[in-house]
Amino acid sequence: MPAAVYVVSIDPQASTVWWANRITDLPFDFSQEHETPENLAILKETGAKVHVIANQKGGVGKTTVTLNLGAVVADVLSTSQDGLLHVFIDSPGSLQDEALLLEALKYAHDVIVPMPPEGLAFDPTARTIQQVIEPTGLPYRVVINNWDPRDGTADLTESQEYIDAQGWPRAQTVVRRYKVHTRASVEGRVVTQYPKNRVAMEAREDFFRLALELGYGGRA
Ligand SMILES: Nc1ncnc2c1ncn2[C@@H]1O[C@H](COP(=O)(O)OP(=O)(O)OP(=O)(O)O)[C@@H](O)[C@H]1O
Ligand SMILES: [Mg+2]
Repeated sequence: MPAAVYVVSIDPQASTVWWANRITDLPFDFSQEHETPENLAILKETGAKVHVIANQKGGVGKTTVTLNLGAVVADVLSTSQDGLLHVFIDSPGSLQDEALLLEALKYAHDVIVPMPPEGLAFDPTARTIQQVIEPTGLPYRVVINNWDPRDGTADLTESQEYIDAQGWPRAQTVVRRYKVHTRASVEGRVVTQYPKNRVAMEAREDFFRLALELGYGGRA
């Protein structure tokens, strides 16, 4: 039976492949396609829902969100008999590679835009949304990622208000900052493979909630 979830990276920096190669027992199929993004066209024939994770600002959590969302959706759908259902495409965090992102958007059904709750991320995120995502007419949602509850809610509230003032659709789910996520990329682990303790459960919960909110629990 083919995996229900397929994760693709079109980031030439290939940090995903660096991560995915270290993970044994990936819960999804994975490939790196930055050299042949036109291969993505085949996804159209699969009937799977294609989600592109995009923000041309580097380091906002695209790879973290892609792999962990892929992992929880694969977990929920592990018994699916329907073949490939969801594809998550990780995209480059740079303006130079815009052509690659545009190619991926041709095959997308929706776009997820991770953004940390920091003023520095606002303008670059706005550029990606206004210049690249909105012209495609695709539905998209901004997801606040990497919020540290210990910092209090001021930055979070400010970011939420900024997003709402722009009129951008925003996910209710906020992905919190946890050291386990940062460590996971070094240790080669996705969120469904974290050790079973309270912090790891909270960290995992954010991605399960996000998947549920986005409606990725089955054949949408
Ligand atoms: N919610 C989180 N909690 C803890 N660490 C996080 C979280 N999200 C991202 N990080 C860390 O922040 C760094 C950048 O994240 P990531 O690589 O996912 O961003 P990116 O947008 O893919 O970057 P690039 O644009 O370079 O591809 C990584 O070290 C990652 O582990
Ligand atoms: Mg990345």
